[in-house]
Amino acid sequence: MMKINAPLQTLNVEKIRKDFPILLRKVNGKPLVYFDNAATSQTPQQVIDVIVDYYSNYNANIHRGVHTLSQEATDKYEHARDTIQRHFNAKHKHEIILTSGTTHGINLVASGFSSFLKKGDEVLVSALEHHSNIVPWQMLCERSGATLRVIPMNQEGELILSEYDKLLSDKTKLVFVNHISNALGTINPIEEIIKKAHNVGAAVLVDGAQACPHLKPDVQALDVDFYVTSAHKMCGPTGVGMLYGKEEWLKKLPPYQGGGEMIAEVTFEKTTYADLPHKFEAGTPNICGGIAFGAAVDYMNNIGFDAIAKYEHELLVYATQKLLDIHGLKIYGTAKNKTSVISFNLDGIHPYDIGTILDKMGIAVRTGHHCAQPIMDFYQIPGTVRASFAFYNTKEEIDKLVDGVKKAQRMLT
Ligand code: ALA
Repeated sequence: MMKINAPLQTLNVEKIRKDFPILLRKVNGKPLVYFDNAATSQTPQQVIDVIVDYYSNYNANIHRGVHTLSQEATDKYEHARDTIQRHFNAKHKHEIILTSGTTHGINLVASGFSSFLKKGDEVLVSALEHHSNIVPWQMLCERSGATLRVIPMNQEGELILSEYDKLLSDKTKLVFVNHISNALGTINPIEEIIKKAHNVGAAVLVDGAQACPHLKPDVQALDVDFYVTSAHKMCGPTGVGMLYGKEEWLKKLPPYQGGGEMIAEVTFEKTTYADLPHKFEAGTPNICGGIAFGAAVDYMNNIGFDAIAKYEHELLVYATQKLLDIHGLKIYGTAKNKTSVISFNLDGIHPYDIGTILDKMGIAVRTGHHCAQPIMDFYQIPGTVRASFAFYNTKEEIDKLVDGVKKAQRMLT
């Protein structure tokens, strides 16, 4: 672990914290310390204002009306799509499908691939996945007869790339991997994973839900086939997210859901589908959510992803050192390349009990298997306590966590 030498604050965190009204609240009589950012991030006033403005001033359905409100809502929604396209550096705007979140995006692709796979084909999934990047592919394999194979991990929580090499063959049709593990914080070498998959002609879907709060993915530079994420992990609202797909793939994939807006023409004899992106956007979307997603992307870019990454790394190093000083504390996930997530347990104490005591002190962490049961099985544990830091957290808050963990240990042993 690195030594703490650089000054901790590279961002004006005091000023940034003023953007987040929720950080002023008390929980159980104590100032809130919010360390459950990997589950959902908090929302700045700038994004809350956009949501209030939508419902106060131009709430209307989009792409459907000639009236002023509908046109305004459509313009703002499509402007958000432009913002998201620029942020992820997609070549075409129509490669950005607005979804209800990461899980929706994954299921859309998994559903569409049913007709492309057959018995004997193989799909690879990493051992580090969230259930949402495992179960849809298991369902796809059941439907298509393809076989699911797993890229294994090591004790540090890193994927074993030499094993990945052995699994790849001309049978491999798809590879699914997260950019960053939600349970351990490992940053996966997705550039290499994508390149190797393409060498055998396989497509790659990257689950970016945990990466997007910390870094700025460039889908063209990555040459990734599909990249999915959720707005609520990056200061936006819940219920909205993005699927990026290369144009050639999105043209080939059949629609996921039938309904309004996704058609070109409907008769009882035959229906033709709308062009991208609308082919995949059946029904009235989360209009306000989409617009607020764009605002969240703008907000984070104004803060700056380089500064965010640097600051969060400093928080990670600081917290890791402090927590490791606690006798009997074990950290799971010690990858060389990891983000500001610390999963840990105290010897002989159930993670749930630690989380409950921390909550009494106003400290929010997640406990349990983090929707990544195979990782917990690998370590032969029921779950962990997970503290996940964002750019609005502070070193002082980490000190409170460390004191809280020590107190919980005293109370429970
Ligand atoms: N996937 C979210 C988490 O890791 C909910 O907590």
